[in-house]
Amino acid sequence: MATKEFPLVPEDVAPVKTKYRTICTQIPTPKSVGLLKRLRDLEPRSMGGQPPIVWDHGQGFTISDAYGNTWLDFSSGVLVTSSGHGHPKIVKAIADMANQGMYHSYCFVTEIRVKLVEKITAMLPAPLKRVFLLTTGSEATECCIKLARTKGQQVGGEKKNIIVSFENGFHGRSMGAQLAGGSAALKSWLGGEHPEFVQVPFPEGFRQEDTSFDVFVKTLAERGVNPDDVCGVMGETFQGCNATLMPADYAQKIRAWCDEHKAVMISDEVQAGFGRTGKPFGFSHLGVVPDLVACGKSISGGMPVSAVLGTEELMSMYGPGEMTSTHSANPVCSAAALANLEVVESEGLIENTAKLAPVLADGCERITKASGGKIGRWASTGLVGALQFTKPGTTDPDPEPAWQLVHRAVQQGVMLFAPVGIGGCAVKICPPLLINEEGLREGLEVLEKIATDL
Ligand SMILES: Cc1ncc(COP(=O)(O)O)c(C=O)c1O
Repeated sequence: MATKEFPLVPEDVAPVKTKYRTICTQIPTPKSVGLLKRLRDLEPRSMGGQPPIVWDHGQGFTISDAYGNTWLDFSSGVLVTSSGHGHPKIVKAIADMANQGMYHSYCFVTEIRVKLVEKITAMLPAPLKRVFLLTTGSEATECCIKLARTKGQQVGGEKKNIIVSFENGFHGRSMGAQLAGGSAALKSWLGGEHPEFVQVPFPEGFRQEDTSFDVFVKTLAERGVNPDDVCGVMGETFQGCNATLMPADYAQKIRAWCDEHKAVMISDEVQAGFGRTGKPFGFSHLGVVPDLVACGKSISGGMPVSAVLGTEELMSMYGPGEMTSTHSANPVCSAAALANLEVVESEGLIENTAKLAPVLADGCERITKASGGKIGRWASTGLVGALQFTKPGTTDPDPEPAWQLVHRAVQQGVMLFAPVGIGGCAVKICPPLLINEEGLREGLEVLEKIATDL
């Protein structure tokens, strides 16, 4: 659903000056309003959903405009900049590759592609073995759908083409990805006698209290799905507006069910992958290894890189030239991704995430208490937190206080992206994985104070 637009009217706000935050102008700052309006006039309205700040430069876990204001970054863009902004090693990798005159190579081989593919595959548990580099998360999830359908046809013929995914899931905004996400706008495409995309409730323990795998089996039966017609089951390890991992037992039962019915198990790790949860992947917590994994966002720490990770069997179905993309393994992006993964490793960012996870959890709990019942559910895993605002005593979304929290946080020097999820009710807290405890606590305290006054 659309979120409320942030007005382009400068507001007086109290000045802020701390180690990590500076707010010294009205917000939005009057000098930026012209730029913001030019885009509102020329782009689709859909691009105008974020707080009205013109990002100019970044350093570590802070982001600044060109007018003297600096924010603690609790967004990581949108869970992307795991090693922060402007990391010298990533900047150098990008600059060196560009200076080498190598900013595009289509599918011609570059040494950087070899190194990146080797680096990623070295992180994979068996039987995941191969990596296909792409550009966006949506491309990666679409590719997983395609591979599962191809495999389905090979083992079960034409009818084995159903992708089972989860209600309220998000797999991107291209057509197949939206169908898997159960987009309401595409619902009529999901109907018919033999729908090819079917959703079951996600076991998040809030709106869906029964988190047992029986619900999965029962829902498919209710929808008239023959399990043998399912070619793939695709789920996020945690869903966007929540930050609760799928129960391990549930994930293990999906694994067994997929094996029994010759379906491909697909994990959408576009948000969770590469350290966000305090382990390399979301599925690393669940005692399973999927057949295919869609990754994106934080692989490169900022440049557009995504990847499908897969087994030998699935990744070898298509012949040379049959599964490629123009910008696959772009050399500048690959250089950034390799540098980012090296930084994540050498600076212990996954360990830092696991270490700071209790601080984030404690902060989310405090903010929830301070909200006096406006936040109906908080959850956090690693360095991703989610606060869901709900109408008192219900699970119905309440987007207005969620929007207010983001609006006021940005006015006070904490950068959050606009609320997401069911009814736009969820505020996500997802700082770069290199944030320190001091910065994390400072931002959480700001949010706690705002929640008290909502
Ligand atoms: C779980 C998940 N899958 C897929 C996507 C789509 O990624 P992209 O926006 O890069 O296409 C996203 C993006 O938010 C996501 O969170």
